[in-house]
Amino acid sequence: MKLLIFTDSHYCSKEVACRTRRPLLSYGKVDAMLTACPHADMLLCLGDFIDDGGDHAANVAHTEALMTRIREAGLPFCTLMGNHDCHAFTRAEFDRLTGGAVPPFVLRNGETALIFLDAGYSDDGSRYEPGKIDWKNCYLPPAELEQLREVLADPGVRDAYVFVHQNLDPGVQVDHIIRNAADARAIIAASGKVRAVYQGHYHHGHEAVVDGIPYITLRAMCEGEENSYRVVEI
Ligand SMILES: [Fe+2]
Repeated sequence: MKLLIFTDSHYCSKEVACRTRRPLLSYGKVDAMLTACPHADMLLCLGDFIDDGGDHAANVAHTEALMTRIREAGLPFCTLMGNHDCHAFTRAEFDRLTGGAVPPFVLRNGETALIFLDAGYSDDGSRYEPGKIDWKNCYLPPAELEQLREVLADPGVRDAYVFVHQNLDPGVQVDHIIRNAADARAIIAASGKVRAVYQGHYHHGHEAVVDGIPYITLRAMCEGEENSYRVVEI
């Protein structure tokens, strides 16, 4: 199974943001990625699909523009909801705009499980909502950790891959790390089934091996003029 993965496209009409980001270029980068890799089995975005410009109609237009190009490609698609997506949309609206497949959920392919987590919560358990987000305070609610534990305990699952916007890797800048990441890493390590963990959010990208498991943070697509995405064979 070939996964085509990108993250942090931050697509919007801004030419430059935060000095190094080129959000406007992300439409062309998504287009180039889909042209270069038309035969993937699934397309994944690890979140921050768009950047909130404070104008709801523009946010919708930017999301629909990317989704139109993605639908043309005809690949099954899902996107995690990044903190910037949470600024722009409620969960229900993002779900509707991006095709009705916003995590958390689990996809099964035989004995392989793809586990998509949603850390868009504050550590008091409240869900990220527009206007109610501290990006440095992200958290996996207990019910998600329990679901992670249950999926990994299923004897029918032999190999698992975990996808999450914010970071479980303890090696990235600390304000990007999910507050209870250590609890999730302990479940992942104890299972013996997780082959890799993929994250976005930390725009520089980072790779580490923790408890013998690769923790891969993809470089943000919106950074600089060069494109950034990855083809992963699982
Ligand atoms: Fe981002």
